[in-house]
Amino acid sequence: GSSPAQAATGSGTLIVAHRGASAYAPENTLAAVDKAAELGFRWVENDVQRTRDGELVVIHDDNLKRTTDAEELYPDRAPWKVKDFTAAEIARLDAGSWFGAQYAGARVPTLRQYMDRVSRNHQKLVLELKNPQLYPGIEQETLKLLANKGWLGPAHARGLVVQSFSADSVRTVHELKPSVRTALLGTPPVADLASYADFVDQVNASHTTISTGYVAAIHAFDGPHDEPLEILTWTVNDADSARRVAGYGVDGIISNAPDVVRGALEGK
Ligand code: G3P
Ligand code: CA
Repeated sequence: GSSPAQAATGSGTLIVAHRGASAYAPENTLAAVDKAAELGFRWVENDVQRTRDGELVVIHDDNLKRTTDAEELYPDRAPWKVKDFTAAEIARLDAGSWFGAQYAGARVPTLRQYMDRVSRNHQKLVLELKNPQLYPGIEQETLKLLANKGWLGPAHARGLVVQSFSADSVRTVHELKPSVRTALLGTPPVADLASYADFVDQVNASHTTISTGYVAAIHAFDGPHDEPLEILTWTVNDADSARRVAGYGVDGIISNAPDVVRGALEGK
């Protein structure tokens, strides 16, 4: 059968803009997903966590220090964990200046704001539940929000993957909503793939850990939707690495600089 990646792209290797087109705009901001769209990339990968008052937000680190001005704005709130701040407090942060002055005032998006923007942009999502052990119940809450935004119906079935490094979290997503495509992050031993194939459609692995043999081993299993398991690989930001992993036969490449990957795959 046709895989999610093939269905999405027509053919060839899927290219996913990591944290948005994060080589060119501040990661996990609306500017970064817009930048991906502008460069012609439908697929974006972004990270979801949760505020103290239960709002889902799009950010990578478990703390606000690296990608916002939290230390400056809230000097007495060390260690600036996302989970210790309210949505209103996070909404005041500048999530763009660290990356470049032209992005001053970019915000940490709520997942609701993010879903509205990617919907408007007609984008497709690899949504990562980041540090889910810090946020009990985040699987159900994320699925509920996706449902409210109209993303759990057939129209988006091949335009949404929920992934995590936590196999428990991925399993929970699958059990709550079996129609949703899922991915396990990491490079599990081949001996474990049969059990993961009960609830994951993809295994998304670091490009430094894979080989032609590993990719073939992944493809030998069928996932929960009776389609071969897929493998996307991250984070591939240069042309040589892109050509190397394409040679392994991966289904997709997750990149901060998706245009560089596209150029490499087109032979430029
Ligand atoms: O999508 C793969 C990649 O995002 C996993 O690692 O740390 O960038 O979230 P990380
Ligand atoms: Ca991620």
